[in-house]
Amino acid sequence: MEPVKRICCIGAGYVGGPTCSVIAQMCPEITVTVVDVDAERIQAWNSEQLPIFEPGLQEVVEAQRGVNLFFSTDIDKAVREADIIFISVNTPTKTFGLGKGRAADLKYIEACARRIAQVATGYKIVVEKSTVPVRAAESIQRIFSANTKSSLSFQVLSNPEFLAEGTAISDLKNPDRVLIGGDETPEGRRAIETLSSIYMRWVPKTRIITTNTWSSELSKLAANAFLAQRISSINSISALCEVTGADVEEVAHAIGTDQRIGNRFLKASVAGFGGSCFQKDVLNLVYLCEALNLPEVARYWQQVIEINEYQRRRFAARIVSCLFNTVTDKKIALLGFAFKKDTGDTRESSSIYISKYLMDEGARLHIYDPKVKKEQIMQDLSRSTTSAEEPEPGLSLVSIASDPYEACDNAHAIVICTEWDIFKELDYERIYQAMLKPAFIFDGRRILDSLHGRLQQLGFQVETIGKRISQRIPFTASTIAQLDLQAPPLKKMKI
Ligand code: UDX
Ligand code: UDX
Repeated sequence: MEPVKRICCIGAGYVGGPTCSVIAQMCPEITVTVVDVDAERIQAWNSEQLPIFEPGLQEVVEAQRGVNLFFSTDIDKAVREADIIFISVNTPTKTFGLGKGRAADLKYIEACARRIAQVATGYKIVVEKSTVPVRAAESIQRIFSANTKSSLSFQVLSNPEFLAEGTAISDLKNPDRVLIGGDETPEGRRAIETLSSIYMRWVPKTRIITTNTWSSELSKLAANAFLAQRISSINSISALCEVTGADVEEVAHAIGTDQRIGNRFLKASVAGFGGSCFQKDVLNLVYLCEALNLPEVARYWQQVIEINEYQRRRFAARIVSCLFNTVTDKKIALLGFAFKKDTGDTRESSSIYISKYLMDEGARLHIYDPKVKKEQIMQDLSRSTTSAEEPEPGLSLVSIASDPYEACDNAHAIVICTEWDIFKELDYERIYQAMLKPAFIFDGRRILDSLHGRLQQLGFQVETIGKRISQRIPFTASTIAQLDLQAPPLKKMKI
């Protein structure tokens, strides 16, 4: 086995950037080049202001950049020189045509494969890092084979990434497992060995799982689907808790102590499952099952998505219901816009859905997030989700606050959408004084559990997920909530 000297990664995103930074740190004798078509993004990777926020990432990049880690837009050069090429481009859900709204769009993967086939020579190991539908590696292989030239030979491997945003660096340095799938041929096994040898620098051999290509591709989809299913399961129980007087945190603790169930991924919240992966991958699984004539399996996983949409919808409806069935022209402070704490990523964030719902109802939103930039929030909220007859609600209803106190000043209600730690430490007495009364706080993340008593003493009406706290004010009708919950996705909003 020839030692690997150069690695190239196409796609400098949330996966490609951190993964390659850690590989560079762990393998100082290997030159790692991360390339991207987006020149601005590459420029950011080469600057003090990295394009993504991830705890510990800055330190790793600063230590390796210019030593054995490079960020560049010269894709062809990096591809030509590399022994191993990772493909880490995005695979969004298709927004048009066959499989619209469900199937993964593989156009970027295909473009990468064609480019590699065009410019590469010699022997290359091409690694699918992006999450793809099962048998995508076959497509890459066919593109290579159809464009083959005597000077190029290759092996395609599947090596899905399991890192979670916010903990990417520790997940990469100490993974539960590394999964590598390849051809069940001597050449395939040799390629698997070569890639394993990279990870073995820092990952114990017992944690490196090797499989055939299709098992590896499907395992990634299945892992994300199982995780998403757990979140939908606990969120479905949270709805039941709110009407029975049970507390979902107590239920989660009680069931999580059963070792067979385990206590992780049992947090009910307004978030449902946000982020770039879960929704996309479950939809992809559903589409795959339908395409392969497994409608019962497809329906089973589709329900995981439906509970996710229901969780957000019913929380939004509850806000309107509690605020006396109207939020029109009311100031609402929305705290947190990222899909979870410790990241600036807003993809599939529940904050977007909650905001749009409230905007449709005419609320004035004042949004604060410690890591998400104003332009990002405005861009997320400006994407039209309404039909031609119903013009997009104006962004004039949205203001971005530079601190949480400013957001809450004179507000009717606070809605906590992201579990940022700083929201636990706010001076709620000061906030209460500055709010209109009755002052509502909707704890969509159960981060203020230990403060609920105190908040009520201060005078707040406290509402949370999976537990009934405040006695509802008698004339608060629940008609709006009932109506909206019966309707499939909100009338004006595509969820
Ligand atoms: C990753 C995975 O690759 C995806 O399959 C998974 O489901 C989510 O995580 P991520 O790193 O989060 O994607 O995506 P993103 O941050 O959008 O980065 C992808 C990068 O690829 C972008 O910077 C984009 O400019 C780049 N790209 C895309 C290319 O360089 N070439 C292309 O042809 C397409
Ligand atoms: C996920 C997977 O964890 C990771 O293995 C995969 O590679 C990519 O997708 P990520 O989306 O970054 O990672 O974050 P994750 O921590 O899994 O959270 C996803 C969403 O679920 C977030 O919105 C989070 O708030 C929510 N969540 C998570 C819950 O609502 N409850 C929980 O108990 C856990």
